Amino acid sequence: MDRGSKPAVLVTGGAGYIGAHTAKALHEQGYLPVVYDNLSSGFRQAVRWGPLVQGDIRDAAALGEAMAAHKVQAVIHFAGLIEVGRSTVKPDLFWEVNVAGTTSLLQVMREHKVERLVFSSSAAVYGQGARSAQQSIAEDAEKAPSSPYGDTKLAAEWMIAAQCRAYGLAAVALRYFNAAGADPSGLIGEAHDPETHLIPLAIAAALGEGKPLTVFGQDFQTPDGTCLRDYIHVSDLARAHVAALGIELRAGAFEAVNVGTGEGRSVMQVVDAVAKAAGCQVPHSVGARRAGDPPSLVADPSLARDLLGWTPRHSSLQEIVADALRWETRPAYGKGVRASSGRGSSPFTSSAD
Ligand code: UFG
Repeated sequence: MDRGSKPAVLVTGGAGYIGAHTAKALHEQGYLPVVYDNLSSGFRQAVRWGPLVQGDIRDAAALGEAMAAHKVQAVIHFAGLIEVGRSTVKPDLFWEVNVAGTTSLLQVMREHKVERLVFSSSAAVYGQGARSAQQSIAEDAEKAPSSPYGDTKLAAEWMIAAQCRAYGLAAVALRYFNAAGADPSGLIGEAHDPETHLIPLAIAAALGEGKPLTVFGQDFQTPDGTCLRDYIHVSDLARAHVAALGIELRAGAFEAVNVGTGEGRSVMQVVDAVAKAAGCQVPHSVGARRAGDPPSLVADPSLARDLLGWTPRHSSLQEIVADALRWETRPAYGKGVRASSGRGSSPFTSSAD
């Protein structure tokens, strides 16, 4: 890609958690992030490093206008639904937004001759399958999604790969393990509504702001009986997107790459890390397993290192939890801030609302 003139990158879902951190990383590396987001779960205040175009991923006309108006050269596609539990009760909606939405985006990219894509995929494409809880996951591991959410990410990957072959698009799908933490600036961080992720819920419990934490199962075949996950600092994850944009890829190439650390941490290790950082106990009890939770999801991150030249820098559990705690103690948005927030907090004005 031509780096001479601040190339514009369309960041769908760029007002969300990982999207906003990636927009910041793009800005820092000399790109112009053009955020395309319908603000259904993202935050206007998270768009600080480029313009915001307010629109839905299924709206082909609005996507096309955004690509033309900003002379977009590449797309990073985050926009989609992410709640695993909700996907089990509304699978049709997940297919419509995550799969049909991606179809619409690819069509518009083709019309506008935008030939480079980074797709936000997930370790949810693997599920547990026949893998033991001790095994880390390489990209060619069995795919056995345990939720409709994971199904839609895998289906979207397949469709993108087929369109690469058919139309000469070049794409990288990044399969995220557990994104966590926050940018140390305090400007952006994790703000989901409702929040279902372990680290923010454990912090809220420790600070007395939320309910005591329920540990979902302590009878898994893992060292302490609780689930193992591979927590990756969101700033490291953001850098992986910029790296994926920058590598040489021939027309028609499709690569799927794990983004994780290779280290599994149990739910109880996270609880202990939060207690240590907060300087107080995390009130918790052990409850039943949550439907669809694989016992272990830990990346083999070799390909990310070899193909993207990427390794994590900020993903020790201590650093992740410290940055998450700083954000949760003083979030710039979320936690009811959304309702009272107006425009004007971004240095850029919206070009489409
Ligand atoms: N957990 C609890 N109690 C809670 C919340 C979570 O014990 O109140 C446990 C879960 O059972 C799991 C671990 O904490 O073992 C992490 O759960 P999260 O909800 O934070 O994250 P998930 O692993 O379920 O899912 C996340 C993303 C998915 C992605 C997956 C890939 O939300 O999109 O990581 O690893 F697919």
